[in-house]
Amino acid sequence: MGLYASNNMLCTQCEAEGFRRITFHPDRPDVLSRYKVRMAGDKTLFPILLSNGNCIAAGEEGNNHWALWEDPWPKPSYLFALVAGDLVVNRDEFVTLSGRKVELGIWVREGDVERTGHAMKALKDSMAWDERVYGREYDLDLFNIVAVSDFNMGAMENKGLNIFNTRYILADPDTATDLDYDGVEGVVAHEYFHNWSGNRVTCRDWFQLSLKEGFTVFRDQNFSADMGSPPVKRIEDVRLLRAAQFPEDAGPLAHPIRPDSYQEISNFYTATVYNKGAEIIRMMATLLGPERFRKGTDLYFDRHDGEAATCEDFVRAMEEGGGIDLTQFRRWYEQAGTPRLKLSLGEADGEWFLDVAQTVPPTPGQPDKRPAMMPLRLAAFAMDGSAQLPDTLAVLSGATQRISLGRFAARPALSVNRGFSAPVIIDFERAPGELAWLAAHDDDPFARYEALQQLMLDTLVAAVSGEKADAGAVIDAIGRTIAAARPIRPSSPKPYCCRARLSSATRC
Ligand code: SER
Ligand code: ZN
Repeated sequence: MGLYASNNMLCTQCEAEGFRRITFHPDRPDVLSRYKVRMAGDKTLFPILLSNGNCIAAGEEGNNHWALWEDPWPKPSYLFALVAGDLVVNRDEFVTLSGRKVELGIWVREGDVERTGHAMKALKDSMAWDERVYGREYDLDLFNIVAVSDFNMGAMENKGLNIFNTRYILADPDTATDLDYDGVEGVVAHEYFHNWSGNRVTCRDWFQLSLKEGFTVFRDQNFSADMGSPPVKRIEDVRLLRAAQFPEDAGPLAHPIRPDSYQEISNFYTATVYNKGAEIIRMMATLLGPERFRKGTDLYFDRHDGEAATCEDFVRAMEEGGGIDLTQFRRWYEQAGTPRLKLSLGEADGEWFLDVAQTVPPTPGQPDKRPAMMPLRLAAFAMDGSAQLPDTLAVLSGATQRISLGRFAARPALSVNRGFSAPVIIDFERAPGELAWLAAHDDDPFARYEALQQLMLDTLVAAVSGEKADAGAVIDAIGRTIAAARPIRPSSPKPYCCRARLSSATRC
């Protein structure tokens, strides 16, 4: 935290409360200031001098040199950065939608520059994507990234001067795996997207951390989905959520995405704030649909540009832009714990229905929970092909709710929580043959993956328990899936749960 030396290089990390270790300052995210930074030093030891914004003057005095940097955008102190050292650069440029030419630079140690091509491509793809999908342009003449091997956060979105651990910048075809390539692409995008979701609109206080992190993870997830395969990306993200966030939400450290109190904010750069935070944004996007969601984000960015905002401001922009009442949805910001949905199918005179009972388990300091609003995407299929309820969005809000499925001659196969529309645990007893049918036929790739996973697990458990195991159903489902598959870019779960810490990265 603060200003530190690393392998003859000087570097900063100011999020969340590092600037106060550099100088006296009201070091809070709601104090926005314009910075002018003069750096001076030995030009042999520190030939490169970088800070936020644009370099407006430079000069030499004997063996010393200096540079004057000016960042025209008011920013909180946690976005301050400087780097001084012996670095080389991969330069490129990007022309924004409105014709502004931006000089791009990725700064690394001598010998590493050959391995920065993938990061540079990811940066340019991210810049174009944010223009196309959110209408957000870059706003300085310069965008610099520095890669440091012993930077102890994953990466940091300082205005105009992102600082990364080399792990998320360098990729060499001889040694990097697909996983490494995806990691570079996703983290470069994440930090770039913060320029709007985090920097132009920042957080009023650190309780609002998920305002920038949940939204930015949601944005980088969708970017990576667009660059590759959306269903594969969704499967990866859900596997990560279940592996890292569900256990956190079920344990002694469970906390809501907007915590009520903290002793040390550094401990809150968690899978809950980041990844569950992203799921909560995703649920609002699902409830609103793409057009109304875009209206909501336009309103949010326009209304709060240059301000330090709150999670409540975001939800209100979604309500007004999307024309929806999210009163009950706000509970997701207050309550910890993974909700459970207990499902049961029933029938009256050939009309089938689904009963849903929602509970949220007690967590430390929160013994009593109330049901939260959530989108549950579902479909139902007659296994003989005679009837179907196509993809339907049910909005849950009560502790119990009945959803009608329509007429079926026999119990239909239920495809539920399609696309993992809500971050919940589902308890549902399947009838024999249903999972095999869904694994082979479900038209939602995520739900089909879920059915196949469960079918394989059930088959393995049956085999080791000495019961009759039907491997034929598994082989049939896999065969049909392969036959229906179109070629996609190979991919696999990412090794980090949030960008904040390499320690959690290693753990995952
Ligand atoms: N704000 C950084 C990130 O998530 C971590 O400190 O990108
Ligand atoms: Zn972030």
